[in-house]
Amino acid sequence: MSRDGFGSKLGIIAAAAGSAVGLGNIYRFPCELGNNGGGAFLLVYLLIVLCLGVPVMLSEFVIGRRTQKNPIGAFKALRPKSAWPLLGYMGVACALVIMAFYSTVAGWTLEYTVKAIGNQFQGKDIETMEQEFVAFHNIGWKNILWQGIFIFLTGFVVFKGVANGIEKYSKVLMPLLVLILLVLAVRSVTLPGGTDGLTFLFKPDFSKITGSVLISALGQAFFSLSMGMGVLITYGSYIKKEDNMTTTALSVTLSDTLVAVLAGVVIFPAAFSFGIQPTAGMGLVFNTLPMIFNQMAGGYYFCVIFFVLLAVAALTSTISLLEVIVAYLVEEVHLTRRWSTVLASVACLAVGVFASLSLKDGSGIAIGGKSFFDCLDFLSSNILLPLGALMIVLFVGWILGKTAFFEEITNGGKLKLSIKGVIYFIIKFVAPLAIAVIFITGLL
Ligand code: PFF
Repeated sequence: MSRDGFGSKLGIIAAAAGSAVGLGNIYRFPCELGNNGGGAFLLVYLLIVLCLGVPVMLSEFVIGRRTQKNPIGAFKALRPKSAWPLLGYMGVACALVIMAFYSTVAGWTLEYTVKAIGNQFQGKDIETMEQEFVAFHNIGWKNILWQGIFIFLTGFVVFKGVANGIEKYSKVLMPLLVLILLVLAVRSVTLPGGTDGLTFLFKPDFSKITGSVLISALGQAFFSLSMGMGVLITYGSYIKKEDNMTTTALSVTLSDTLVAVLAGVVIFPAAFSFGIQPTAGMGLVFNTLPMIFNQMAGGYYFCVIFFVLLAVAALTSTISLLEVIVAYLVEEVHLTRRWSTVLASVACLAVGVFASLSLKDGSGIAIGGKSFFDCLDFLSSNILLPLGALMIVLFVGWILGKTAFFEEITNGGKLKLSIKGVIYFIIKFVAPLAIAVIFITGLL
């Protein structure tokens, strides 16, 4: 069966970076950081990315490229008649869980793009912005409509296989997003009281580091780098035999982290300046950003372009999520690509509707005091992704083994890689131990 429905010719860096950079960086990272003690969270986050980012990402790439298959097929090929393919199924389930709540927020980027075009933020104060944000969540059908449109767009791209084109655009659009973030950062830092936000972001208060901060940082790192659920196995399966996977993993990790930190530099100084609590969660980004644009020359245009780019960043991430489910249905269940896409999209929307509705004031669906949206978010980032990543490094370190690993990352000995021993050591011992310890402390 042909595997070139998606991504055969696209630059793998653009594709993997497209998957990594998204709402996780600009929306979720500031939320998590704000709720988990600011600078202390940033420090732990950076340490985790530095130590685990490249090794875990490489592990996924190796599994994918060696087998040229989707996550389930890959484990079946490497260890037939074992329980390992279950890990692939967990990845597919996790993709569905993430899609369900991610598409809710992705839908908001469309609503906010339309509002930006209609100049609806002009002259509003922060209280009005906050009220309107809450009021918007209470209009269930509108949230679901945008969410449905977003999932439809994702399905369209995945089905048409025009991802190649999308990635080409995103090679231009994503640097543009970084550029706008840089401009915003300058404006934000120079707002009155902005430096308090920088202190919050960069000055770690070590007493704030608790088990739950550790697990949140771990989950955020995996979420942001799209690791631990098979997206990168799937993308790895498209990496060419002559590509250098280590430098690819390094570039993706670095650019993703840069965007997240930059988002922090944009959000927190402005939030402090406008009197928004760093723990404001969802509203932090959606309310703070328009306020910054209101304070800028040409703010209207910046605002429109920004929300369009944010939606594109979200789209390149949802494409990768849907592709995991579709690749499974096509290659393992043997459905056509068309039906696989329809089925996967409908399933995501069916669960996603409840995530959107759960944010209604007071009346939303909640489990144990958490909205259904938060439950899905927690389940994926704090449980499924760390568990998935743990199993993946254990697989590469202990089952696949050193010879096969070195063979893959050096392209059969063609690439000289002096640090390959260190990377393997991290994969075999450090990463499993670190993930397990953080995971257990987080649960206690
Ligand atoms: N990494 C994406 C982001 O930060 O927005 C979200 C994501 C995409 C998570 C794909 C997991 C994934 F498999």
